[in-house]
Amino acid sequence: MAQRDAPMAGVSGGTALDPWRLLDLARAAATQAARLAVERRPADLGVAETKSSPTDVVTEMDTAAESLIRELILGQRPDDAFLGEEGGAESGRSAVRWVIDPIDGTVNYLYDLPHWAVSVGVEVDGITVAGVVAAPRLGELYTAVRGAGAWCNDEKLRVRPTTELGSALIATGFGYRAERRRRQGAIAGALLPRVRDIRRAGSAALDLCAVAAGRVDGYYERGTHHWDRCAGALIATEAGAIVGGFEGAPASEQMALAAPPGTFEALHEALRELGADAVDY
Ligand code: IPD
Repeated sequence: MAQRDAPMAGVSGGTALDPWRLLDLARAAATQAARLAVERRPADLGVAETKSSPTDVVTEMDTAAESLIRELILGQRPDDAFLGEEGGAESGRSAVRWVIDPIDGTVNYLYDLPHWAVSVGVEVDGITVAGVVAAPRLGELYTAVRGAGAWCNDEKLRVRPTTELGSALIATGFGYRAERRRRQGAIAGALLPRVRDIRRAGSAALDLCAVAAGRVDGYYERGTHHWDRCAGALIATEAGAIVGGFEGAPASEQMALAAPPGTFEALHEALRELGADAVDY
């Protein structure tokens, strides 16, 4: 688990902005929400509502987990801003914003597959300074503090060494809209003969943690939201990955790419050759 044994980079401003304190609250919120999602998951869990497409689902537990996190965090820090997948944006009066995906991997959760996580990222003046990705059914709690490192439970994380693309195991994901999925499938199909293999596990936050843990050589995806990436991107970065979009842009809805240096550039180049940077999907 992340320990206060390393210097912080680039963040100051007193105890209210201390990234380690923010991490403590993020960890408490993520683990409580994760426990709620495990213990209160109804056996007959169904879809409560849909969003961008009929397959983009919300369960009652996404909403309950986000409410728990919101109440815990804003109960202690009422001046902070909050961005949650299910609740939209709430502005604040401090420099801090909490970026939450209460259940990343909702479809896995719906089907009772264990690969889902609660993601809590904390920004100060727009820079992510701490992040937690809690995957209770996997027994894994990922944490990171900006400038200090990333951990899975008690183990410090490090990305894999640079790999040539032909030997790289690449994680990806697909959006919810049918047209986007058709294009994403075509790009993944064209990438497949150029890499070792492709994995689609169903949680962008955990895909980023997998890069951090050296369980895959890289990850890319079009269409993720800030709440999917915020905590996981810090965890991957702190483990030594480059996280970004195309041509030096930050990771965004257009593209989130994460890989160790060297592998990142090779994957970036291959994806551009395959037209993954097109704007019309
Ligand atoms: C989704 C998951 C999935 C990714 C999608 C995300 P959600 O988040 O992270 O792996 O492929 O792009 O929207 O809907 O389960 O919170």
